[in-house]
Order: sequence, then C-alpha cells, then structure tokens
Amino acid sequence: MNQKMDKLPTTAVFLFAAIGSAVGLGNIWRFPYLVGKYGGAEFLIPYFLLLVVVGVPLLILELALGQRLHRGPVSVFKSIMPPLGGIGVAASLAGCLIAIYYAVVVAWSLMMLFSSFGSGWQVDPASFFFREVLHSSSSPNHFYLISTLLLFALVICWICVYLFLWRGVRNSSVLVAVIMPIPFLLLFIILLNGLSYPGAWEGIVYYLKPSVETLYDAEVWVAAMTQVFFSLSLGLGIMITFGNYELTHKEVVRCACLVALADGLVALLSGLVVFVTIGHMASSGGLSIEDLAASGPTLSFIVFAKALSLLPGAPFFAFIFFLILFVLGLNGLASLVEAVALAVREHFPSISKATISLYVCIFCCLGGLIYTTGAGLYFLDTVDHFVTTFSLLTVGLAQALVVGWLPRALEFQKWVHSISQWKVGRLWLWSIKYISPAILTILLAFSFYHESKHLYASYPLWVVFTFGWGAVALTYLGWGLYAIYATENRRNVTELFYPD
Ligand code: TRP
Repeated sequence: MNQKMDKLPTTAVFLFAAIGSAVGLGNIWRFPYLVGKYGGAEFLIPYFLLLVVVGVPLLILELALGQRLHRGPVSVFKSIMPPLGGIGVAASLAGCLIAIYYAVVVAWSLMMLFSSFGSGWQVDPASFFFREVLHSSSSPNHFYLISTLLLFALVICWICVYLFLWRGVRNSSVLVAVIMPIPFLLLFIILLNGLSYPGAWEGIVYYLKPSVETLYDAEVWVAAMTQVFFSLSLGLGIMITFGNYELTHKEVVRCACLVALADGLVALLSGLVVFVTIGHMASSGGLSIEDLAASGPTLSFIVFAKALSLLPGAPFFAFIFFLILFVLGLNGLASLVEAVALAVREHFPSISKATISLYVCIFCCLGGLIYTTGAGLYFLDTVDHFVTTFSLLTVGLAQALVVGWLPRALEFQKWVHSISQWKVGRLWLWSIKYISPAILTILLAFSFYHESKHLYASYPLWVVFTFGWGAVALTYLGWGLYAIYATENRRNVTELFYPD
C-alpha cells in the first residue's frame, strides 16, 4: 500500500484527499437535517464552537498518531498499551455500523441520479422520494417488504466502492481532488437561483438567527458534537489511517485546520441552500418552516430535489448534483473500508488487502439489507442516533484521555509540539487534556441519562433496543473482548511506542 502512496507525496494531494474523505453525505445530507431537527440557527453555534474546540484538536490527534506510528487504528493504541487496542476495535466496528447505513443513503443518491431525467421528481419531490425511492411503510413494525430497486442500487454502490478501492484510495482521492471544487460551485448556483424565489429570506432568517434560550438545551449540544465527529470522520479510525500517508510532519496542524475549515464551509453552504428552499416551500405551500424543517433524514433529499427543480435545465443539474453526492459517498465508504482493512491486516498479515476489502464490502452490503425494507428509514434513524452519540463520542473521549494523560504518550505530545508549524501546541494540549474530555464526559453522561428516560423518537421499544442500544453494545463488546484478549497475550506484544 505504501509504495503506491509514495508516488503522491505532496501536501496538496494529501490535503485534497483528506478533505475528500471528510466532505461527504455528512455535510450535504446529515448536517441540514440536524439543523432542521434541532430548530435552525440554535444548532449552528454549538456546532461551530465544538468544531473548533473539540473537533480540530481531535483531528490533529488522529492524523498525528497515524503519522508518528505508521499504523492502523488498532495497532496505534495497542502500541501505547496492549489492551488499549480495543479503542481501535470499537472505532472500526462503529465505522462498519455507520458505513452500512451510509451506503444506503448513497444508494438513495444513485436512485435519484437515475430518476433525474424523468419528470416525476420535479412535480412533487416529497411524495416521489417516499414512493419511488424509499417505499417507506407507515410504522417501524411493518418491515416485511424489501424495495428491490433500492437493494439493487445498494449492491451497485458496494461494487463501486470495491472498484474504487482496487487501485488504492489514494488514486481515487486524486480524482476527488480534481472534482472537489464542483460541489461548491453547484451549491452556489442552486443558492443564487433559490434566492430569487419568494420566501427565501424567511428561510435564511430561520437558519441564521440564533436564539439564546435553546443554547441551554443539552440535546442540541450532543447532536452538534455527533455531527462534528461524523463530518470530520473522527472516532472511526479513518483519520488515523489517513495519517499513515506520506506528508511532511510540519503540515499536520495546518492540514487539520484546513480540512475542518473546508468541511465546515461546505456544511454551512449546503444548509443555506436547504433553508432558502424551505423558506420558499413554506411560503408557497402553506406549511410552516418549522414543520418542513423537522422532517428528519429525508429532508435534504426532498429539499435539494425541490431546489434543483427550480433551476432552468433541472434534469441536467439534478444529474450532476446526485452524481457528486454519489461519488463523495463512495469516497467516504472507500476510506472506511481502507481503515478497517488496515486494522484487520495488522492482525492477519497473511490475508491480502483486496480479500479483506472484499469481505468488508460484502458484509456491509448484506447488513444494509435491513435498511431497504419498508421500515428501513426508522432503523437507519435509530442506529445513526445511537452509534454516533455513544460509540463515537466514547472513542473520542478515550483517545483524548490516552494521549492527554498516559505517561507513555507524553513523548507523543512533545512530538506534536515540536512539529507544529502553526503554533497551537499548548492550546491543543489543553483541549486534549481538559476541555475535550470534560465536554465529552458531560455530553455522554447527559445522553445516557436522557436516552434511558425517553424512548428515542417514540419508536417501539424493540427498535430502540436492537438498533440503538444493541448496536452501541456491539462496539463496546468488541472493545472489551479485545482488551481481554490483549491482556492475556501481553507477552507476545513486542512493539514499542516509538518505531524509529
Ligand atoms: N466524514 C464523511 C462524511 O461526512 C464520511 C464519513 C463519515 C463516513 N462517517 C462515515 C464514511 C462512516 C464511512 C463510514 O460524509
């Protein structure tokens, strides 16, 4: 793998690759729907604050760990102390659980891509999406029927991910580097067009005018934190794997800041497009902005379809838009499979990377079957909520504690200080040692309390238990089992924290 990477040594390519892996459905699909769900502008302040205070320092941590140790997500922590490898196992498991439904959203994009030349989606985007793409049932208990078309699209997605990986993620990232400015440009075009429609201004006000009261709502802060993790691909092992790529050490901090900046900007822009359009939809359809905005995981697809239908040459722009979404999604999935493959390979070196990737793709594709049923949307919503809240934030907390407090990681801290061309050394350390662990602990404690008191989204108990707590338990279980295994095999571990 590394030989291939060495052909592409420049910081710019690394940067584009990292931005390509961070920018994805998280920005265009997940961010706007969370903004809508949590009441508009109230979400933005916690989001950007946490992005800077927790997101960037953790991104520096993950990239620098990969850089320094040149290992995958499990071995990195194992080399600090063997049982800690469990953190990487939990990260990889959480990554797979997310990838399974993430691919389904990519499959929605693919279906919209194929539908873009028809006219059905332009007339009534909402009912088109529910009827033709989701085949959604009215209750989570009705999950018997599978949407064959969606299943077909899902299989195509995973085949494409595998093909994407074939020549190494690095090469495909060059492709992403080339097409990277296109999403920006397209979002701008849709935005400019949307601004000319009545109601746009009300949408902007809803999106950008904060009210102070909701800042006291811990639920909004938790959601914002999960979005920071999701969007920067933190707590999944992806960024640690990225750190393995060649890059001049001095650029780690700068790259992390630029990745976060680009990621935040794409999210902000796509949110703006969505809310300008919602403003227009509200003014012409008689519904309130609040009601429209709170429609959950389907929001972005419906609203973007509406926004695209307002453009002259709508089918063409829709085709390009969903193609971009599809490619960004594939790239995100590819970087996850790459990370899992690296983690597995370090423990089973005899199995080739291609074989592991194939198994991961097949496994995730099969797992995605459940989301192609009529109740798939409810399951997806539940897993997304629980895994991002509990698994990702716990992994993030553990990473910060390990690097911030373990004496063995002290040298790593010094190393990050010494290589920081942008001098954020002490600020970074404060965040890693005190601020991030404190924030994450409070948010996690609140979430455990809150989720045990309220049934998420009033879904049936079995859905919350299997898809919510069950999924979270799986990641914790993987973590625990690995820790036990590593403790028992401690004598076999000869690695040192410093390889060179
Ligand atoms: N960060 C990227 C995004 O916002 C990709 C990503 C996030 C991802 N979480 C993932 C990819 C989990 C695969 C699995 O879309």
